[in-house]
Amino acid sequence: MKAGFIGTGSMGSILIEAFIHSGAFNPEQIMASNRTIQKVERLAETYPGLQVARSNREVVIDSDLIFLCVKPSEFKQVINEIKEDVLPSQMLVSITSPVLIRHLEGILPAKISKIIPSITNYVLSGATLCIHGNRMQPEDKEWLENILAHISSPIRVSESYTRISSDLSSCGPAFLASFIQSFIQSAVEETGISMEEATLLASEMTLGTGKLLTTGGFDPISLQKRVSVPGGITAEGLRILESELSGVFKQVIQATHTKYEEDLEKAELLLAGKQSPSQ
Ligand SMILES: NC(=O)c1ccc[n+]([C@@H]2O[C@H](COP(=O)([O-])OP(=O)(O)OC[C@H]3O[C@@H](n4cnc5c(N)ncnc54)[C@H](OP(=O)(O)O)[C@@H]3O)[C@@H](O)[C@H]2O)c1
Repeated sequence: MKAGFIGTGSMGSILIEAFIHSGAFNPEQIMASNRTIQKVERLAETYPGLQVARSNREVVIDSDLIFLCVKPSEFKQVINEIKEDVLPSQMLVSITSPVLIRHLEGILPAKISKIIPSITNYVLSGATLCIHGNRMQPEDKEWLENILAHISSPIRVSESYTRISSDLSSCGPAFLASFIQSFIQSAVEETGISMEEATLLASEMTLGTGKLLTTGGFDPISLQKRVSVPGGITAEGLRILESELSGVFKQVIQATHTKYEEDLEKAELLLAGKQSPSQ
């Protein structure tokens, strides 16, 4: 089985590295192309055996499973380059949320799925959201999810919930990191604890909290109840958070959804040939 990657930027390279580290693929099973070829050459230096393709077509011709890891504005060009070479027997996986499955099925004959990876996949954890197209048979879905299970927990979601699921799963690490950074910064400013010590404590706390919420039998409500006793110190802190953060996440979700609607519209225009990538 050969896996091909078109686009080895941030997410493409994270997926390649995670698949290799997890043992899902040997470097010899991977071929990749990228607009700036040096990025693939660097990966091939790190993972001897990984094949550097000189064109996107070469990746398609040589692969059974193809990952498209480019941004929405770059999609049209890639599709135009590869569409004549894609076969119905191939599986093509896009990681670009505003490009809808129906867009891809309308242009390419392959079995198509969309997955939304997360930076957490780099450390072989977190979710990969899976949205399967109509041509994916039950055994195809299972096969793809078995591969993704090497680097994540594959979770099927409906395409209509792609945005909110991605907010939680893919943007979530950045949102949580912003919260933690703010906590650390305030700890340093208010008490004089060193940045290093505060960062270490907060990071260990985050790891432990993640374990409690996944395998430790807690959900967010029961965890808060367990840590805070009425009238205690944690309860005082929670009281401030509840009053100050009320409504913040609604605003965050509204902002991500507004941006997504804009991206969706641009992607549709671009794929219909009614807009240039720079617009
Ligand atoms: N970042 C995340 O956490 C995350 C999570 C889930 C999904 N995604 C989605 O993943 C997609 C890619 O995001 P990213 O963060 O990886 O972007 P990125 O770092 O900009 O990577 C895109 C890569 O595609 C390459 N590329 C562009 N046009 C190409 C072409 N015609 N042929 C071959 N390669 C081409 C670019 O090459 P150059 O080196 O020349 O620029 C770049 O390396 C986006 O749709 C994003 O929404 C991202």
